[in-house]
Amino acid sequence: MRSALAAAFFCLISLAGVLAQQSPAQDGDLWWKHAVVYEVYPRSFQDSNNDGVGDIRGIERRLDYLKDLGIDAIWITPMYPSPQVDFGYDISDYRAIDPQYGSMEDFDALMKSAKAHDLRVIMDIVLNHTSDQHPWFKESRSSRTNPKRDWYIWRDGKNGGPPNNWQSWFGHSAWTLDPATGQYYYHYFYTQQPDLNWRNPEVRKAMFDIVKFWLDKGVAGFRLDAVSRLFEDPQMRDDPYLPGYNAYGDRNIQHKFTDDLPEVHDVLRDLRKLVDSYPGHPVLISEADEPTIADLSKMYGAHNDEVQLPMDFQIADVNQLSAPKFRKLFEEVENNPAHGWPEYFFSNHDQPRQWDRYGDGVHNDQIAKLMAALELLPRGTQQMYYGEEIGMRTTDPKRIEDVRDPIGRTGWPKEKGRDGERTPMQWTPEMPNAGFTAPNVKPWLPVPPSAKTINVQVESGQFESLLNFYKALLKMRHTEPALVSGDYVTLNPDDPDVFSFLRTPPNSGRSVLVALNMSSRNRTISFAASESLKTRGSKGQATHVTILKSSYPTSGTVKLDQIDIPAFGALVLGVE
Ligand code: GLC
Repeated sequence: MRSALAAAFFCLISLAGVLAQQSPAQDGDLWWKHAVVYEVYPRSFQDSNNDGVGDIRGIERRLDYLKDLGIDAIWITPMYPSPQVDFGYDISDYRAIDPQYGSMEDFDALMKSAKAHDLRVIMDIVLNHTSDQHPWFKESRSSRTNPKRDWYIWRDGKNGGPPNNWQSWFGHSAWTLDPATGQYYYHYFYTQQPDLNWRNPEVRKAMFDIVKFWLDKGVAGFRLDAVSRLFEDPQMRDDPYLPGYNAYGDRNIQHKFTDDLPEVHDVLRDLRKLVDSYPGHPVLISEADEPTIADLSKMYGAHNDEVQLPMDFQIADVNQLSAPKFRKLFEEVENNPAHGWPEYFFSNHDQPRQWDRYGDGVHNDQIAKLMAALELLPRGTQQMYYGEEIGMRTTDPKRIEDVRDPIGRTGWPKEKGRDGERTPMQWTPEMPNAGFTAPNVKPWLPVPPSAKTINVQVESGQFESLLNFYKALLKMRHTEPALVSGDYVTLNPDDPDVFSFLRTPPNSGRSVLVALNMSSRNRTISFAASESLKTRGSKGQATHVTILKSSYPTSGTVKLDQIDIPAFGALVLGVE
């Protein structure tokens, strides 16, 4: 009887899903709310022409893998023509594909193939700056009277130095003197990435036209690179200093006058209007490292009319296994003042991989599974980074001569740059290149020796592997009604070690209880007294408990009043 009811409920849910696809705006059940987005760093994913650099055809070749993994969309970091100083984030042509990665025909073929796999493609768009090799900047720097002069931010120096104390995120002054015209130009990032002047309406129009160009190609949305930095204080006031020095030897500074200016929101509102005018509900994902939930909340817009998915850096950056900290932050996001939809991630191409960041050096494999559950099971949209599903390690260069990311040279040895988290994807045990490129080719970054055992092929064949754990959770996340669209409720709020939460389905049906032991102690926990659970089931309490997944061997009956959970264990229960 129970299974017949469950089947009927499932049919209803599937029907609701189909209807949602057809008319998402009516019930608010938009595709991106149920999506797991997988970040592909194209240089490092799959090389198809054996030049040591990944490419678009390589990505296309791996769509079967991605579909089987269970993700819904790929976000590809910039593939536009670029001098590659910042590996694509310095764009010299926004309407083309860098020949290193292929051609526009390859891109169109990827779009077609992704569609056939029912996978969406999200582009990375860099609105804040261009490459210094972009024709706009070449014109702009050619003379003080060039019509494109005002497309960038040019100022006279002060007292023989730069116009003010603004610092680049990548170290040292954010101003570079251009001897040709004797003025300084502003760059929040590398010298080769001059900032556009968003106060100039022509710049705005040009960038919006580029966004349209890609929407016309059918992309499912954009990850908005460094978008909080579009505007600078028109009065050019000095930023306040903070105590201490950074890895580059500069005084620490608060980017008060170059980050999060209110004008950003006008642009975001207009961008949202633009994407909303396209079919298929394209999504905007903002990269903005907001310090508090109140700040993060602003990115949704006062009327939920800006970014649908602001990346939550606070949760990503806890950088420590702490049940109280995660509990507090997830609660805060759940109750964000904008009622916005949460977006979670733990790794990307800018920070050491989660395997190392959260691992304690002894139980990293257990912890990686726990992190997968923490990432994939709360309410929200999740973002994964290629290779996290197999437990790829951060592998920093050992010598400064080998560093590719320029900040690794400026900041060596304190800051080794971001090469460590960008090493090639590990597909097979075949060394030295693990299936990323042919064995006789030198890849753009070396494949770590750990690839011999940590790779897709080997882990696919191991029942207990991290890869199979991810697959199981991804499947569950798309099929359990409580995980697809259920609420989120914190359980056992005072437990210092075990972070537990309950996902309850929208109507009746089973709830999913997730318990994550973030400590190195074996623990016995109890949910018997939980009000959230008592209300369920025919006798006014949970009657039927099923183990849906655990990161450790366990079987038999689970009683909610006494559950043994080992150190760093992750347990997922179905509760009816
Ligand atoms: C973003 C990117 C980073 C890049 C920077 C400048 O933070 O994620 O990789 O270096 O913007 O474009």
